[in-house]
Amino acid sequence: DETTAKRKDAHLDLCATGDVEPAQNSTLLECVHLIHCAMPEMAVEDVDLSTPFLGKRLQAPLLVTGMTGGTDRAGAVNRDLALLAERHGLAFGVGSQRAMAEDNARAASYAVRDVAPTVALLGNIGLYQAIGLGVDGVRRLMDAIGADGMALHLNAGQELTQPEGDRDFRGGYRVVEELARAMGDRLMVKETGCGIGPDVARRLVELGVRNVDVSGLGGTSWVRVEQLRAVGSQAQVGAEFSGWGIPTAAAIASVRKAVGPEVRLVASGGVRGGLESAKVLALGADLAGMALPLFRAQQQGGLPAAEDALKVILTSLRQALVLTGSRSVAQLRQRPRVVTGALKDWLAAL
Ligand code: FNR
Repeated sequence: DETTAKRKDAHLDLCATGDVEPAQNSTLLECVHLIHCAMPEMAVEDVDLSTPFLGKRLQAPLLVTGMTGGTDRAGAVNRDLALLAERHGLAFGVGSQRAMAEDNARAASYAVRDVAPTVALLGNIGLYQAIGLGVDGVRRLMDAIGADGMALHLNAGQELTQPEGDRDFRGGYRVVEELARAMGDRLMVKETGCGIGPDVARRLVELGVRNVDVSGLGGTSWVRVEQLRAVGSQAQVGAEFSGWGIPTAAAIASVRKAVGPEVRLVASGGVRGGLESAKVLALGADLAGMALPLFRAQQQGGLPAAEDALKVILTSLRQALVLTGSRSVAQLRQRPRVVTGALKDWLAAL
């Protein structure tokens, strides 16, 4: 209905210019140090970043994580960023398809196949909307945009800070199990900036989930976004919880340890460059994910600005591999690294 689309536009405005990355939050990637190799004995062109994902082959292990849809403005964001992903061989996700589930007239704003015919494409819906839609409804949303997979997003922290948000989180694992059975490795489960920890990840994998985006703390905070929209006591609670979550570095390292090598893991949440992407890949991610930096670049300067931002990311990711003497992510993972400070404490507990 109207209110879903209006709320989405308010969210886009806040994410474009608002203070949605609380300065006190951290991914803890500053606690990870890759070790310099003074004699790389390789050329930049020897770096092979290609990665399988959703039955396709990416040219780089990067996912533009799901952000938007439902309005004309959102449609322009989707088309620019999907085209960017197509050109550079990345994966791309649309934002929550709730608006199109409620009103099919909004479906066009999620349609990117004409500009991105071969991109590895993810649809997106909230876990609690999925309960209402059922397996068939979720699959229809995926098929309607020609997606290769479907991301199911978890956002309890955001919902509790949103005056009109959900207050009852029962029955989640049951619907995940049904979806995993029906969709197999086309299903992804993702958080939205508070992180998936090892206990939840293990349980998801036991139910058949094969793709997980930990989306941890340290980047866009949806609790903060809702705090900025809220008034009175709700805003005060939001302020208190805008630093809540599992830092991305802690989430990805602990989840990889918990689920073993077969599960495809994405690390998003505050990953802001190629070097940070290299760090999450070293910690066990198969793909690094980013939302806000590419969204902001697109809002400021359209596709050219987003492409400039992406080129910096890709250049520094390659450079991180060369300077650790790694031809591939598999080699990068085998290199020693230093983990200091707070991340060590988190990993001792997780
Ligand atoms: C998001 N995110 C998001 N996630 C999701 O699953 N469905 C959605 O509809 C949205 N919408 C959305 C809009 C905008 C403008 C942003 C910036 C983000 C969350 C996103 O996919 C990601 O999990 C977090 O933003 C953390 O990554 P960054 O932004 O710190 O790189």
